Formats: sequence, C-alpha cells, structure tokens
Amino acid sequence: MASELTIRKPDDWHVHFRDGAVMRAVLSGTTEHFGRALVMPNLVPPVVTMNDAIAYRERIEANLPKGSEFTPMMTLYLTEATDADDVERAYKSGVITAVKLYPAGATTNSDSGVTDVARVAPVLERMAEIGLPLCVHGEVTDPSIDIFDREAVFIDTVLDPMRQRTPGLRVIMEHVTTEDGVKYVQSQSEHLAATITTHHLMINRNHLFQGGIRPHFFCLPIAKREHHRLALRAAAVSGDGRFFLGTDSAPHVDGAKESACGCAGVYNSPNTLSCLAQVFEEEGALDKLEAFASLNGAAYYGVAPSDQTITLKRQNAAVSYQAKVKTEEGDITVFDPPCDLNWLVV
Ligand code: DOR
Ligand code: ZN
Repeated sequence: MASELTIRKPDDWHVHFRDGAVMRAVLSGTTEHFGRALVMPNLVPPVVTMNDAIAYRERIEANLPKGSEFTPMMTLYLTEATDADDVERAYKSGVITAVKLYPAGATTNSDSGVTDVARVAPVLERMAEIGLPLCVHGEVTDPSIDIFDREAVFIDTVLDPMRQRTPGLRVIMEHVTTEDGVKYVQSQSEHLAATITTHHLMINRNHLFQGGIRPHFFCLPIAKREHHRLALRAAAVSGDGRFFLGTDSAPHVDGAKESACGCAGVYNSPNTLSCLAQVFEEEGALDKLEAFASLNGAAYYGVAPSDQTITLKRQNAAVSYQAKVKTEEGDITVFDPPCDLNWLVV
C-alpha cells in the first residue's frame, strides 16, 4: 500500500471565506494546502458588481497569511438586476472567473438571488457569448418539493431547460449530491461540469441523525441516500475531467450551527486533503486524487495546473486534527468525518 503521495498543489473550486473576523480566521485553512480557490459571493450584502469583487478581493489579499502564495479567484452573485455589461467588463479585465446563480431562498444569504431564470436570460446569453462559466446552486426552492428531491427536480425543471435555451453556456453544477446529477453531467457535453464536496463523499443522510441530531453535518444541498454518495465517489475517482473538487467549506460559528434553527454549512478546509486521501485510498484510486483535486478544475477553467506540489504521508495511527478554529465571533467546528483519517499533508 502506498505510504506517500505527491501531487500538484490542489485548487478549491468552491469556498466560502466570509468577511471580517471570520475571514481572517479561516483563510489559512485554505492557503496552507491550496494554490487557488474560487471564492463564493454570498456575503451580506452580496458581491454583485465588478467593483464589489475588486473590493472583496482586496480585503482577502490584505489578510492572507504572510508568505502565502495563494490566488483568490472571484465570482459575482447573479441578481435580477445584474448588468451584463458590468459582468463582461469584470470578466474581460480578469477580475472574475465565474458568476454564481443562487435560486432565491435556496440557501445561506440567497435572498437576493434569482426567482426565475428567464429574468436573467440576457446575462446568461452574454456569458455564453464570452465563455464565462456559470456556477449553479442546483436546488428548487418550492417548499412543497421534498428537500431530498430538490436537486433532481431542479435538473429537469430549471437547469436543463435553461441550458437548452442558452446554447454554449458553460455551467458547473456546484456541490452535486445525487446520482441523478452525476448521470446528467455524464450525459452532456464538456460545457457542463460539476464540483463535489469533501463531506458529500463521506456522509450520507443517516449521519445527520446518528445517535442524535448532528448540526455540523447539515449543509445544502443536504446529504442524500447512500447510493447517491456512492455515485459521487465513483465520479470523483473516475478521472473524468468534468468532476473536480469544490469543498464548499462554509464556516458558521458554533452558536449559529448549534441552534433551534441552525445554519447550513460544513467547515472542512483544514482537513479536506486528509479526508480526500482517505476516500481515494478506500476506493483504490489514490492515483486519481491529483486529477480530482489539482488538474480537472484548472483545465475546465482554462488555467495551468500549479507548478508546486504537496505531499501526503500515510500514518500508522489515526491522525488528530484541530477540532475548532477560534474567531473573534466564536469558535467554528471543523468537519469531523465518521471515520479515522490516516493521511497528513507534510
Ligand atoms: O451548506 C451550505 N452553506 N450550502 C450553501 O449553499 C451555502 C453555504 C453557506 O454559505 O453557508
Ligand atoms: Zn457553497
């Protein structure tokens, strides 16, 4: 069995850094292991315009740990008032890498999102024209649709019609959680890709209720049945370039998670690579980890893979990792997967 693995430095194609004190506390969890990350725009208020993205990028850069060689890649939050010209300028001047579509009400800070994709058709058409990718939170928001079905229904009723109406639009199904999503991506052209999170490879919906309610496993889209988790694992280790890592690391302080109405989000940046090595080892596919974490996403976004490397070493005993990150606003619990971890980034 391999005991050491060296891969190109990974990129995280979906991360939440937040702002202010939380951002300052979580940045190093990403910059220690990743060369780049695609930063989600769901701040309060959201990152909507090119100028918002420039200002947010500057706040991130001003707070990067000393000596870190890390590039934040920015996104805009698509609203029904988004100006296609501003989006095009932001892309052509290198400020943004993608635009994020949140269906209004689907998740954390999505109130300014889109109620009907027909209302953003002109922006989507412009994006298709200029080759700018659209990152999609793929869930319907109709409360009468069962929460475990919202991704599959979104594919049929929103995503596929939207893609058919906008030929050439490059779309990433963010944090795909279902076998339906995996099959949909596999059945389409190279324009369509998907990110997969660390936690959706490791937990299914039973883990949410194992011995009691587990707020730190609650995220959106919610973890699904075991066969869906297995489909995600198969896609992640397949080497198929359309599937790549987006951790969806989404820090919330413990007070907001451990509450009568807890926030959705799993904070997994600090131990994501240990988790992924464990998953890929269990799948007998350590040789595919580099494609998933370091190559496929870069290729999709048209950037060169990192010329740096990281090395993971397998330990004989389970490794321990930091359980909480302290912030001025409170502690944030790090993802604690339901299995031992044996791999450490050295
Ligand atoms: O679990 C989630 N947390 N899913 C999302 O879509 C948003 C994220 C957050 O921002 O907390
Ligand atoms: Zn997210």
